[in-house]
Amino acid sequence: MVSGAPPKRVGLWLNQTVGSRGLAVHIGVLTGGGDCPGLNAAIRAVTRASLDQGWSVTGLHDGWAGVLARNSTPLTIENTDSFLDVGGTLLGSSRTNPLRTTESYAKAASVFDDMGLDGLVAIGGDDTLSVAGALAGDGLPVVGIPKTIDNDVPGTDMCIGFDTAVETIAGSIARLRSTTMSHHRATVVETMGRQAGWLAALGGLAGGADFIAVPEQRSTRDEFVAHVQRRYEQGRDYSIVVVAEGAEIDGLEVGEAGVQATDEFGHIVLAARSVGESLARAIEGATGIETRSSVLGHLQRGGPPTTFDRVLGTRLGVAAVGYLAAGQRGQMAAQRGPHIEPVPLVDIAGKTRPLDDSYLDLLSLFA
Ligand code: F6P
Repeated sequence: MVSGAPPKRVGLWLNQTVGSRGLAVHIGVLTGGGDCPGLNAAIRAVTRASLDQGWSVTGLHDGWAGVLARNSTPLTIENTDSFLDVGGTLLGSSRTNPLRTTESYAKAASVFDDMGLDGLVAIGGDDTLSVAGALAGDGLPVVGIPKTIDNDVPGTDMCIGFDTAVETIAGSIARLRSTTMSHHRATVVETMGRQAGWLAALGGLAGGADFIAVPEQRSTRDEFVAHVQRRYEQGRDYSIVVVAEGAEIDGLEVGEAGVQATDEFGHIVLAARSVGESLARAIEGATGIETRSSVLGHLQRGGPPTTFDRVLGTRLGVAAVGYLAAGQRGQMAAQRGPHIEPVPLVDIAGKTRPLDDSYLDLLSLFA
């Protein structure tokens, strides 16, 4: 809250535009799930647009954990303005899932009355937005903003953080190329992305990888081996292959350690499969060519956001506040072509967006 606690009002939202009664309006904002660059741009935009409406804004700490604990901080121009170009989230994040029990869901739903919130902006990936969708489905004034380096939220062309992560992957491949060439080796680069190949495909294409494996298309161990062997026979005595953490490679034994460990949304820890290292050992074993693996890991989630992600976060943040102001609850602000448009949260709940088929052709052309 910018100037003192807002009055507590219940049910303002029913069939009303926020602020339409001329009462002080108070909204909350949270960031949930894996962090990414560009979140601070969105938080700043939500704050600015809300203050511009004459509303007060509260940041909930650590995603849904902050909602359950009622752990929050008033947001102002002063405490949000200097983070536009800083990675991570100034609000903190978590993978806490209020949908796990009826009690925790009820606790999350009662945050509106308890904290006097007239609206809530949930910034997150498919998990965070599925909670937002459930609350919205129950008539609560929630809107969403898609973010995740995985870029797998349906209904939007782009998620906040993806562009920066692609830059990081492409830049990392460039660095790995010089050492790989110098030592005439093969390097296997493992990217994040869960069951979606957006990061591996676009990062690999932008970085000039010579073979890219994504979860949307099964590949085989023998294909990788033949590819690396062929390059050497053609006189190109180095190779950079990219593999998504969730890629399925027939004939390759991947690690099992940690596979049983799941987060609160039921996701297994895919990094524990060590697909990159397993592939490197298989290539070296079959070809005799010295092969290293490099897991880019959480480096993909760090660093300053690209200008694209700063602008995307800004546009989505302002749009989300606009939906609340117009009484369009239950919407996610989405980039569709050049426009920012509302997409119903209920339409995307429980779904993810795989890599577009058009990229699969590109991948085979450059392999
Ligand atoms: O969803 C984003 C993401 O970075 C995935 O690509 C990855 O599998 C996962 O998060 C890693 O999560 P954690 O930060 O919990 O290790």
